[in-house]
Amino acid sequence: MPRTVMITGTSSGVGRASALALAARGFTVFAGVREESDGEALRRASADEIVPVRVDVTDAGSIAAAAERVERATGAAGLTGLVNNAGIGAPWPMELVPLEEFRRHLEVNLTGQLAVTQAFLPLIKRARGRIVNVGSEGGRITLPFLGPITAAKHGLVSMTDALRLELRPWGVSVSIVEPGATRSDAPAKLVENGRRAVAERFSPQGRADYGAAVEHVIAAIAAIHRRAGSPPEVIAGAVVAAMTARRPRTRYPVGGHAKLLTRLRRVLPDRAMDALVTRLLGLPGPEPRAAAPHA
Ligand SMILES: NC(=O)c1ccc[n+]([C@@H]2O[C@H](COP(=O)([O-])OP(=O)(O)OC[C@H]3O[C@@H](n4cnc5c(N)ncnc54)[C@H](OP(=O)(O)O)[C@@H]3O)[C@@H](O)[C@H]2O)c1
Repeated sequence: MPRTVMITGTSSGVGRASALALAARGFTVFAGVREESDGEALRRASADEIVPVRVDVTDAGSIAAAAERVERATGAAGLTGLVNNAGIGAPWPMELVPLEEFRRHLEVNLTGQLAVTQAFLPLIKRARGRIVNVGSEGGRITLPFLGPITAAKHGLVSMTDALRLELRPWGVSVSIVEPGATRSDAPAKLVENGRRAVAERFSPQGRADYGAAVEHVIAAIAAIHRRAGSPPEVIAGAVVAAMTARRPRTRYPVGGHAKLLTRLRRVLPDRAMDALVTRLLGLPGPEPRAAAPHA
């Protein structure tokens, strides 16, 4: 039976590497892109085995059109796989993040994944296919100033669990790939978004309170990606495994320090984890404690 897969966010990084890797394994890949030129570049790179499909995961009309297009191409056989990969990230302190910016993070990284899943599920059920969500080690571990992304990625962990439990009757398997630091375009976008936010969108008081710490953390994160980041192809390897293994695993922590950090998160108490994260990012320790009010 021909194997078919729809992947969102294939213009670069993990999505692009996954599209090429799955095409190389014989899948017909429907590659979600927002710009036609990105789709064309990918099609050429794969010697025409990849079919670009325009989709913005925040746009219901574009999702419906993409699902119709894929349904026409796959027919009664249905769709063997869906990879929800599209994602964005900008650093913001929780005290300052504009609510529309917080909602945008949830929309692209979480609600958008559900919208795409709902649209493609009839096709996936037809093929008793598989869903692979691309989460993050940030779905297990929270870093300061990455709250909007990690809140969405924590939500994606739970959504993946709910889908896995609910879709058992149809034989649809649902996994989550949880990348650690990955050397895609994302770290540079994070740094750029962060610097621009501090310079242009923080209030003067916000800049005084948080500016230096945010700049410090994004520089530390960029350095960790350079030093210990994995190439996107490593993450794509886990996507391929989740799509092709006879018994796919429920979770694939992969790349960077994902496995180690996820294991530590499971065993360390919160305060010890806070100290570890603070040290990893080179942030100063806590201020000396103020006296308790009723001491
Ligand atoms: N890089 C890391 O260190 C890292 C770590 C953990 C998890 N991840 C996760 O891995 C996934 C892929 O990220 P990446 O590292 O490969 O980053 P990337 O190179 O920046 O790729 C992100 C992709 O998402 C697409 N996208 C953004 N907004 C979209 C929207 N509204 N609708 C459809 N597509 C949209 C982008 O398309 P455009 O080019 O059109 O914007 C791009 O193709 C993300 O879910 C990310 O959270 C990455």
